[in-house]
Amino acid sequence: MNEQEFIPKKYSGLIPAGTTTWRAPSNIALVKYWGKFPDQIPANPSISFTLSKSATTTSVSYEPKKQNSDGTSFTLLFEGKPKEEFRPKITTFLGRISKYLPFLNEIHLKIDTSNTFPHSSGIASSASGMAALALCLMDIEKELVPSMEPEFLKRKASFLARLGSGSACRSISGPIVEWGMHKDLPESTDLAGIPYKGEVHQVFQDYQDTILLVHKGEKTVSSTAGHDLMNKHPFANRRFEQAHDNLSGLMGVFETGDLEKFIQIVESEALTLHAMMMTSLPYYLLMKPQTLSVIQKIWAYREQTSVPLCFTLDAGANVHLLYPLQYREKVLQFIKNELIAYCENGQYICDQLGEGSKKV
Ligand code: DP6
Repeated sequence: MNEQEFIPKKYSGLIPAGTTTWRAPSNIALVKYWGKFPDQIPANPSISFTLSKSATTTSVSYEPKKQNSDGTSFTLLFEGKPKEEFRPKITTFLGRISKYLPFLNEIHLKIDTSNTFPHSSGIASSASGMAALALCLMDIEKELVPSMEPEFLKRKASFLARLGSGSACRSISGPIVEWGMHKDLPESTDLAGIPYKGEVHQVFQDYQDTILLVHKGEKTVSSTAGHDLMNKHPFANRRFEQAHDNLSGLMGVFETGDLEKFIQIVESEALTLHAMMMTSLPYYLLMKPQTLSVIQKIWAYREQTSVPLCFTLDAGANVHLLYPLQYREKVLQFIKNELIAYCENGQYICDQLGEGSKKV
């Protein structure tokens, strides 16, 4: 894959008008993307489970611009209402990608977007949001290039989504997506996410992710600021190497279904991510006391029951519980008995692996 393949030849048709709608799911990284170079190039490869229910649905209505103005032009509704806070991020995104979608300078967009997960739940919507928007924009390009293959549409959507938010490039396909160059995956690239094509043991089919909403407030430090702090981080290079090793390890685990090793890699990745935050300058903490209590409870439960339940964390305080489908009833009971007390308003979301984005 190279950047040039995404720069289109001159379009022959007129700028169209119409509406398109896509639903893109969120994803949860097993090996974490943490640290990046200019142009959204990841400092290490990452791999994620694509989720199913936690998703963003975005509709884009488009028509040729009425006035001849420079740059991109859009209006934005979030859950039916104007949302000024989102404008700067989308303006930057559209500006960055107009080189690859030159029609953006000649079109006006009406973007209407909503999430399935509760408002300000502490679940990042940038991955699913940027993925859904990138897919809508690719659908418009398809109007101009009718011969476009569906596979190219998704590949370029992932390439574009990455320029909006790195992890978004892993939300186009499913159920497992890898992003970033890795020696064991010849097709891997820093430019986009690729569906993981290796063998995957049946224990990972319909793997569950129950997300405990431990703290629903805004994060004190954004992911973008966190990535920046990796630039001068004293442990950065060793961490980047470790991510490569953990990805190799996980590839073996996917094949064998060795859940003990799965748990070890996934939990270590989550704690390393937060350890990187705690050892940045300035240092900071995104876990809450409840996050630690939940982790301790999970370890005790695993010890007592041998249920292969493990956790992972995003750049926030919420806890993702990962486990095979066959343990669903047991784990849900455990959550009700012991973990719900640590969730804000007792809230949690039951999700599972999914197939990726869909046109609505
Ligand atoms: C901790 O993709 O949100 O969730 O590229 O700056 O938008 P930007 O960052 P973002 O970072 C996500 C970091 C993470 C780990 C991961 O999803 O791999």
